[in-house]
Amino acid sequence: MAMAENPAYPVGLRLTGRRVVVLGGGQVAQRRLPALVNAGADILLVSPSATPSVEAMADAGELTWERRRYESGDLHDAWYALIATSDAAANTQASAEAEAHRVWCVRSDDAEAATAWTPATGRSEGVTVAVLSSDLHDRDPRRTAAIRDAVVEGLRDGSLVAPHLRVRTPGVALVGGGPGDPDLITVRGRRLLAAADVVIADRLGPRDLLDELPPHVEVIDAAKIPYGRFMAQEAINNALIEHAKQGKAVVRLKGGDPYVYGRGMEELQALADAGITCTVVPGISSSISVPSAAGIPVTHRGVAHEFTVVSGHVAPDDERSLVDWRSLAKLRGTLVILMGVDKIGKIAEALIAHGKAADTPLALIQEGTTAAQRRVDATLGTVADAVRTHEVKPPAVIVIGEVVKVGPAPTA
Ligand SMILES: C[S@@+](CC[C@H](N)C(=O)[O-])C[C@H]1O[C@@H](n2cnc3c(N)ncnc32)[C@H](O)[C@@H]1O
Repeated sequence: MAMAENPAYPVGLRLTGRRVVVLGGGQVAQRRLPALVNAGADILLVSPSATPSVEAMADAGELTWERRRYESGDLHDAWYALIATSDAAANTQASAEAEAHRVWCVRSDDAEAATAWTPATGRSEGVTVAVLSSDLHDRDPRRTAAIRDAVVEGLRDGSLVAPHLRVRTPGVALVGGGPGDPDLITVRGRRLLAAADVVIADRLGPRDLLDELPPHVEVIDAAKIPYGRFMAQEAINNALIEHAKQGKAVVRLKGGDPYVYGRGMEELQALADAGITCTVVPGISSSISVPSAAGIPVTHRGVAHEFTVVSGHVAPDDERSLVDWRSLAKLRGTLVILMGVDKIGKIAEALIAHGKAADTPLALIQEGTTAAQRRVDATLGTVADAVRTHEVKPPAVIVIGEVVKVGPAPTA
């Protein structure tokens, strides 16, 4: 029958318990069968041989395999057929049988002669994306697959914004945004961000992502929440609670990981006390990723078998300090200091006083993973001068130890 020049009509077949006949057990069948199994079809495979994967599906009882060639009549009780044998004459004969019995069929050897086409498909969050070429004579499977990948990837990572308008998930998500580069947030974090009504964001983290949010999303700068008679943190907790109580989907976007010097647990506890559900999405902490972005591995075989992450926000001689600098000076591994730019002179003095060599190499990486990233190298003995001379400013990660020297010489 002559094919009309009309585009194919897309439809979703509900195949549960319905007979689907597959002719040929080669690579085409191997690729198509999992989706047919997943759709619950009653699959009859007719083929003298099959690939090991197809054979495994038969062994697992996912399909019935008749080890023989196609015979006229095989399609008579089928709802749908996949014709993919290596015998062109058999394919044509089976295709004619399908036409005569009004069984929709796809053909691997001659798409134009087929009555159905398999779209490039992918799934994300309860949605099936199916892409079909609308040009009968210029079908380009790589293009349809690329469009499918772009849509599915976009839905997964949140760059394609398609919020669930009917299914609202109110509550709060504490999302670790990673060190700053917008590509370094997790897929889950990005997806939640894309579905948020309100985002309360810190100064650190992937701030570029905020520009991509749709106009209806309320973006609140955590540093600017007025706190009057409360502490700043209490005011943030209250803002989270208030918005969540209004039934909104709230994302608390934090730099790095929410639980690494991020006060994430304090926020989670305040929300729990208010009876509000909170999801925590881990993030890539700057303590590892910023050294890595500057070419420094925090461990290296034969050089450092441990790394210790320390807060440097109070000086070693400050009575509020909880850090045992004497013990840290004895460690052979890598020391990673966050929030330490202001106090690094005093920290270096304490480490040297407790026995660490003054020529221990060290690097300061400012604004790691962003376009403004820069690295300054020094030693424990010279770091105080280096910070002044090079005007190193927070945020910066300070890495102390021989790992600083194992990579290629720094360029910045
Ligand atoms: C309050 S702590 C938060 C750490 C964060 N939760 C994490 O896991 O990365 C802030 C400190 O993290 C470090 N930091 C965070 N992002 C950074 C970046 N992009 N470049 C350099 N240091 C960064 C700095 O030491 C900064 O002072």
